[in-house]
Amino acid sequence: MVIDLRSDTVTKPTPAMREAMAKAEVGDDVYEEDPTVNKLEDYAADLLKKEAALFVPSGTMGNLIAILTHCQRGDEMIMGNLAHTFLYEAGGMAALGGVIPHTLQNESDGTIRLEAIQAAIREKDVHFPRTRMITLENTHNRCGGVVLPEEYTHQVAKIAQKHDLKMHLDGARLFNAVVKTKSTAAALTADFDSVSFCLSKGLCAPVGSILCGSRAFITKARRIRKQVGGGMRQVGVLAAAGWVGLTTLVDRLEDDHRRAKILAEGLSQIPGIKIRPNSPQTNMVFMDIDPSIKKSTSEISQQLKMDEILVGEAGLYGFRLVTHHDIDDNAIQKTIAAFSKVMRP
Ligand SMILES: Cc1ncc(COP(=O)(O)O)c(C=O)c1O
Repeated sequence: MVIDLRSDTVTKPTPAMREAMAKAEVGDDVYEEDPTVNKLEDYAADLLKKEAALFVPSGTMGNLIAILTHCQRGDEMIMGNLAHTFLYEAGGMAALGGVIPHTLQNESDGTIRLEAIQAAIREKDVHFPRTRMITLENTHNRCGGVVLPEEYTHQVAKIAQKHDLKMHLDGARLFNAVVKTKSTAAALTADFDSVSFCLSKGLCAPVGSILCGSRAFITKARRIRKQVGGGMRQVGVLAAAGWVGLTTLVDRLEDDHRRAKILAEGLSQIPGIKIRPNSPQTNMVFMDIDPSIKKSTSEISQQLKMDEILVGEAGLYGFRLVTHHDIDDNAIQKTIAAFSKVMRP
C-alpha cells in the first residue's frame, strides 16, 4: 500500500463516516433547511464559543469569505509572508476582493513581530489604503506545523483593538493546536472575530471547512458564500462526515503527533538529513538534505516513490512529511528505512 506523506489532505473518509453519510438526513442548505448541516454548524459555534458558524466547501473558501466579509475593495490585510492564504490560495483576496495583502516576515515560530504589525498599520490619510484586518495561522503550516503561543495572540489582539482592526484565524489545523497545547478551541480562538477550520485534513472528512464568528458576521458571510458559488444544497451528506470527524477524531490527532516525532527521530539518525528547528511540534516533519549529498530532492522523491512512499518537497533541499489517520507505526518504520536506503552514497 502506498505511504502518502505529502499532506493530511489525502486522508480518506473512515467507514463510520461513510455510514453516517449514507444515513444523513438532508434538506436544501441554501434555504438553511439541511438538519445535518445545521447541527454541525451549531456544534462548531458552541465549541468555539462563537455566536454562529457556516459550513463551506474548503479552507480556501472559508478564508476568502472571511476576508470579503471584513474588507472592502482597496482595504489592506496584514499577514505573514509564509501564510497559506498569501502563498497558496491563488491570490483570491486580490482577484475577487481587491484586498491588498500587506505581508510581514513570519518568524520561525509562526509569529509576526508585534513591532512590525504596529508599524504596518496605516495612519488615516487620503493617500493610504485602509488597514482593515490581521490574519494569523494556527498551526502554521509553512513554519513547520508550529503552534502559535496563546499569549502572542492576546498581544496581537490588543494592537487590533487599539486600531479597530478585525482579527481572522486560518485555523485549518486548529485541532492539532488544541491537542498539542491541551487547551480548548474556544480559548485558542477567543481573540478572533472570525475563524476557519478544516474538517478535511487530520479529521478525515472528504470535504468541508467551518467558518465561525458573530451572528452578524455569519449572516454577511452566508451571502458572500452564495456570491462565490459556495451555496450547496443537500449537503448534509458531507456535513455528516464532518460531524464524525469533529466529534470522534480530534483526540486521535495525538497519534499523528507521536508518529511525527518518531519519524523525525529516526530520520535524524541518517547521515545527510537535518530536521529543521521547531519540527515537529504537531503532525509535520520538515527536513533538509545536506547539499554535499549529490542528489536533488526530486531524485530522492522519485526513488522513494519506487518504494511506494510519497513525500512533499519543501524548498531547494527540503521535504515536508505529514502524518495522518492513514499512516500507522509500520509506515513510519518503512519510511525511515527507505530514506536510509536512498541516502546511502
Ligand atoms: C494552513 C492552511 N490553510 C488553508 C488551507 C486550505 O484548505 P483547502 O485545501 O481545504 O482549501 C490549507 C490547506 O492545506 C492549509 O494548510
